[in-house]
Amino acid sequence: MVTLVRGGGLTCRALLFLLLLLLLLLLLGSGPACDAAPDPSQRDSLMRQETSRQIGGRVKLTAAEVKLDARLRGMKEREMARTPFPPAVHFFRAKPLIEKSAVFALLQKMPKGGALHIHSSTLVGVDWLVRNVTYRPNCYICFTRDRSVRFVFSHRRPFPRWDCFYWRLLETLRAEMGDPASFDNSLMQNLTLVTEDPDAAFPSQDVAWEKFEKAFVVASGLITHAPVLRDYLYRGLEELHRDNIMYLELRSGLARTYELDGRVHDKVWYLRTFQEVTQQFVEDHPDFLGTRIIITVHRALSVSRVKAAVMEAIQMQKDFPDVVAGFDLVGREDSGRNLWYFRDALLLPAHLGLVLPYFFHAGETDEEGTDVDENILDALLFNTTRIGHGYALPHHPLAKELSRMDNVAVELCPISNQVFNFHILGLPPGVLKLVSDLRNHPAAVLMSEGHPLVISSDDPSLFGNAGLSYDFYQAFVGIGGLKANLGTLKELAANSIKYSSLPPHLKDAGLEMWQKKWDLFISTNGH
Ligand SMILES: *[C@@H]1O[C@H](CO)[C@@H](O)[C@H](O)[C@H]1NC(C)=O
Ligand SMILES: *[C@@H]1O[C@H](CO)[C@@H](O)[C@H](O)[C@H]1NC(C)=O
Ligand SMILES: *[C@@H]1O[C@H](CO)[C@@H](O)[C@H](O)[C@H]1NC(C)=O
Ligand SMILES: [Zn+2]
Repeated sequence: MVTLVRGGGLTCRALLFLLLLLLLLLLLGSGPACDAAPDPSQRDSLMRQETSRQIGGRVKLTAAEVKLDARLRGMKEREMARTPFPPAVHFFRAKPLIEKSAVFALLQKMPKGGALHIHSSTLVGVDWLVRNVTYRPNCYICFTRDRSVRFVFSHRRPFPRWDCFYWRLLETLRAEMGDPASFDNSLMQNLTLVTEDPDAAFPSQDVAWEKFEKAFVVASGLITHAPVLRDYLYRGLEELHRDNIMYLELRSGLARTYELDGRVHDKVWYLRTFQEVTQQFVEDHPDFLGTRIIITVHRALSVSRVKAAVMEAIQMQKDFPDVVAGFDLVGREDSGRNLWYFRDALLLPAHLGLVLPYFFHAGETDEEGTDVDENILDALLFNTTRIGHGYALPHHPLAKELSRMDNVAVELCPISNQVFNFHILGLPPGVLKLVSDLRNHPAAVLMSEGHPLVISSDDPSLFGNAGLSYDFYQAFVGIGGLKANLGTLKELAANSIKYSSLPPHLKDAGLEMWQKKWDLFISTNGH
């Protein structure tokens, strides 16, 4: 976006110069001054036309919605005048500021539709993992040499393994301990990126990614215990439902799960469990629409392993058509292996005449011209259904056009982008760690053009985030600025059903269900 704005600025200045020159020539040449002031009615019409292009710009608001919109605008003006301005502050410090905001309180009550980009290992807050899961019987812990921890549930002391020589029963350890509360806090620190001084803790993107991969390993010992997984998924849905979210598309590697006696369940068990938990949850919460899974594999795998994973995903989609939405590659994009590197694997479905929808992470970077940057166009060439992040999209006019024409929505995850610290201000990596100001997020361009877009949270537990209200706040107040209005929110929420992987009849049913919630939201808040 930086380049675009600068480019725009230059052209503008050049144009202005030419115009002035022309004016001067006219004045010199013809004597009588011409009236150069723009026609006010034309100005109004242009302003309206431009606003109508933004997300929600063409949404017709009802009388009650117009009323709420006016109130919302007042709240937002007060929000924009705040110092510090929360979207300009790192989320770990902005969170308590956001919680004091009237806009945020309204966003919490708003029916937000679905969450389409969340990774399974970060679905549930770390509080619950430590305070509930690690307090269950038969939980063993070991302390690794790099000052991290590992967990495993077992009905006898686990054998030493390469990263863990000595396992201790947590129950016994806590009983010997003077201060279990601060111990529990240190365990939480192992599971999240949240810290009081993020700028010092993450001097570069590399450090953030390393901590991220570590937290993932720590959590997996807890989450992949079969009975825990059930409760974990249920709890995850509760956290979303509490934030007025009615649908989830979860990215998951379908980890193998284990029992106390060491027995291991396969991926099909994971899918079946996910399906059962969802059914139970919907039974308990009839206003919840459902869930689906996007199967992921790590891009560190070889091409032949990814080929096998693609074939497996095709089979699982055939066996669980209601649950499996499609396929994605995860792991840091700049680690070298881009989509093109995996082309032989990703072309398999097309070659075999089979179907496997893709939901690729692409362009989670602002480094133009790199392999990661090319992922955007490749994702579209491989017929991706949506683009995860698409941070780099505004730099790619052709890809942007294709994505718009084919209705390939971008999954915008503002807080994740800020935490992973893209140098949004255009400074070299490592120089300025505070990306920081979300007003500079390139998605502002997409929002003002009405590009297909949904809001999501990516790795909520890592950021101390829950639900979608915080990310909606950042997109609405920070990225969207003063011109984003109630229509914007309405379209963003509806988009999350419209661009979901649901089959058309369920999409219609989902939109209807969401509309009812929306109408109720308007009638209870629109005065
Ligand atoms: C832990 O979570 C389970 C399931 O979510 C719940 O039934 C149980 O009461 C919780 N236990 C504690 C100690 O919070
Ligand atoms: C992880 O937990 C251990 C055990 O309490 C603690 O010593 C260590 O400092 C924690 N690591 C982090 C990164 O917080
Ligand atoms: C993408 O879609 C086009 C048009 O339907 C099709 O010809 C092509 O084979 C697809 N490519 C892949 C990789 O699936
Ligand atoms: Zn992601």
